[in-house]
Amino acid sequence: MIDSETLPVEYLGGKPLCMDQYYQVLSSCRIPGLKKDTVVNHASGKTPPTHITVVHNFQFFILDVYNSDGTPLTVDQLYMQLEKIWNSSLQTNKEPIGILTSNQRNTWCKAYNNLIKDKTNKESVRAIQKSIFLVCLDAPMPRVSEEIYYSKVAAQMLHGGGSRWNSGNRWFDKTLQFIVGEDGSCGLTYEHAPAEGPPIVFLVDHVVEYMNKTEMVRTPMIPLPMPQKLRFNITPEIKKDIEKAKQNMNIMVHDLDVRVLNFSHYGRKYLKSSKMSSDAFIQMALQLAYYRLYDVCCPTYESASLRMFKLGRTEAIRSTTTESLKFVQAMDDKSKQTAEKLDLLEKAMDAHRKYTHMAIHGQAIDRHLLGLKMQGIEDLTSLPDIFMDTSYAVAMHFNLFTSQVGSKTDCFMCIGPMVPDGYGVCYNPMGDHINFAVTAFNSCEETNATKLTRFLEEALLDMKALLEQRPKTSK
Ligand code: COA
Repeated sequence: MIDSETLPVEYLGGKPLCMDQYYQVLSSCRIPGLKKDTVVNHASGKTPPTHITVVHNFQFFILDVYNSDGTPLTVDQLYMQLEKIWNSSLQTNKEPIGILTSNQRNTWCKAYNNLIKDKTNKESVRAIQKSIFLVCLDAPMPRVSEEIYYSKVAAQMLHGGGSRWNSGNRWFDKTLQFIVGEDGSCGLTYEHAPAEGPPIVFLVDHVVEYMNKTEMVRTPMIPLPMPQKLRFNITPEIKKDIEKAKQNMNIMVHDLDVRVLNFSHYGRKYLKSSKMSSDAFIQMALQLAYYRLYDVCCPTYESASLRMFKLGRTEAIRSTTTESLKFVQAMDDKSKQTAEKLDLLEKAMDAHRKYTHMAIHGQAIDRHLLGLKMQGIEDLTSLPDIFMDTSYAVAMHFNLFTSQVGSKTDCFMCIGPMVPDGYGVCYNPMGDHINFAVTAFNSCEETNATKLTRFLEEALLDMKALLEQRPKTSK
């Protein structure tokens, strides 16, 4: 569908959305630069790539996914090719070259320039950058209890688990990396520059639907060549860069706590039948959870799509409002009656819906302010006072960084916190349950992903109990 530009146009609030992001995720890669990075997209070139990169035990292979007549390889052919790769890369004692891409961008850029001085390395790196996407065949991760299994898998997808495990089995500059673990865990990680979550999740839905179709295709009898292994010449300097990247990655991995909550008590269907916006309801539950935990509200960011505009990306919905504060304060106030709490919840959700409407129509404040600030910096004029004001800094310190990414498949996305003392919360409201992934930094004493998850669950249950007390006629 991407090749023939026949992807169905998506709609939000009855308006068509810009589909450009869908055309940016295959055959693209982020390239480190000294001043700034760039994103290259090889799909639109004269000879679009026909190969993917497969990585197993830190060893990279080029796998051509088209037959010489232009037809894509069949599932059986792919399986045979992957098996060949698997069998020829059983040793694990290789340098985890991919871990270089996890380092801080300036450090990686210097290491990159050093790496590609060698002709063989340069050709190998180019082949990875040009490939349609990566498939990471991961080594087994340590066994964990069932209770935390999904949290561990989420962390594996997000960062690979550190240099001892699978963080070197990646090329983090690559837009799309599908990950398959030996225990059957699977998912993907993606580089955010070319696109937001929704096109990526649409792709996942498409893949899952496609896999469920049993299409009988005859596999051509012509034997396929062995996929080409990519060579790297590791000089002592490159080895040093790899060691530095390993250390940096291990610190980051150690610092990030990831908790997954499968909230199973209700989902989108119940909220819709209660005449509630699921998104606004979940955002208010987050407000309540945070307020109960800290006795104070915090600046909250929720991503809103700007794809009603050509090449639009995102705007921020500021979920903390005067109305949301009134609601969370009233919720545990014994002097308040149920009817008043319900009224405050409805007003808070209404405020959230109105802000969402403004944001998706390009009428919110954050991207405008960002544009003005960038312009001020570019013009080298003195920055307008507002950007130097303490209240501006406070307003930009998003302790709650949240995003809804919905899908048909029962899955979830993960994001890290935006600030050192904050949380990242990504959620997917399904029909009868809601998936949440909550992250926080272990180095921050004030935050705790497990605790927020618990408070969130309680808030969602208490809010449902409140809804159940609505007089039947007003439902
Ligand atoms: N009663 C009954 N139904 C209601 C309702 C109410 N009071 N309020 C809303 N609904 C319905 C909506 O009409 C919608 O119906 P549909 O699924 O048939 O279209 C459904 O409930 C869901 O609406 P809601 O939960 O309010 O949220 P939304 O789907 O409009 O999503 C955003 C809100 C902000 C998430 C969305 O606008 C957006 O921008 N998404 C992209 C975010 C993004 O890019 N994230 C990734 C960043 S990497």
